Amino acid sequence: MSLEKVKLFIEQQKKFSHMQFAHLDVDLDQNKDDLFKWIVEQSNWPTLKIHVDIPLKDIQEEVLNCDKYWVEHRTDDSDGWESMCIHGQAVDFTGGYKEEQGEYGWTELTEVCPRTTEWLQDSWGPNSIGFKDFKRVRFMKLKPNGYIMPHQDFQQRKLSAFNISITEPVGHEFAQEQAGLVPWEEGDVRLMDIGRLHSLHNSGTEDRVHIIVHGTYNAVTVNSIIKSFKIEQNKFINA
Ligand SMILES: [Fe+2]
Repeated sequence: MSLEKVKLFIEQQKKFSHMQFAHLDVDLDQNKDDLFKWIVEQSNWPTLKIHVDIPLKDIQEEVLNCDKYWVEHRTDDSDGWESMCIHGQAVDFTGGYKEEQGEYGWTELTEVCPRTTEWLQDSWGPNSIGFKDFKRVRFMKLKPNGYIMPHQDFQQRKLSAFNISITEPVGHEFAQEQAGLVPWEEGDVRLMDIGRLHSLHNSGTEDRVHIIVHGTYNAVTVNSIIKSFKIEQNKFINA
């Protein structure tokens, strides 16, 4: 029953192209703070591809050594969805903040994933996504036949979470309301509007693994978002 709802939602969204309702008309010469705010809050972009090279092979190798850490995630509205925190309140505490769980911090996953950790902790390097500090940073697995029911994580549409594709098997579909399918490619870093309804299905035969990053941006993050917006906007204007 739930899977039928997922399939129906995904099929309904496929009539839209990903950027169909994305706004492109913005004054790029306005001050940086206003431009940043417009991109994140007003652009109506469902996702923004961030132009940064990540150590993909390293992360892919390390995640293979993490089998014992995965825990089931939000089983009430999904199936085959698993998660583990590399930064959070505990490696197996993958839900939202709870005071009694203590402070956010790096978990024992850092020992199994040293290169992933090094990359995340490098806030200023050329391949960095920045971040002044982190809240939850989680690996998210969607197993074969796994699905996530249509839901929105926030009430308002806004580009708000970094989602990074570590493996992108054939059959993974990530649909967003009025934005079709996210055109994921392995290694993509995308800033996502998860205030918009979204639903996922992995109809393939391999695990799909992504990383979701929540935290506070630094100047590298902000500059990277603005730079990436300009590159992507230019592609669509010239398409
Ligand atoms: Fe979500």
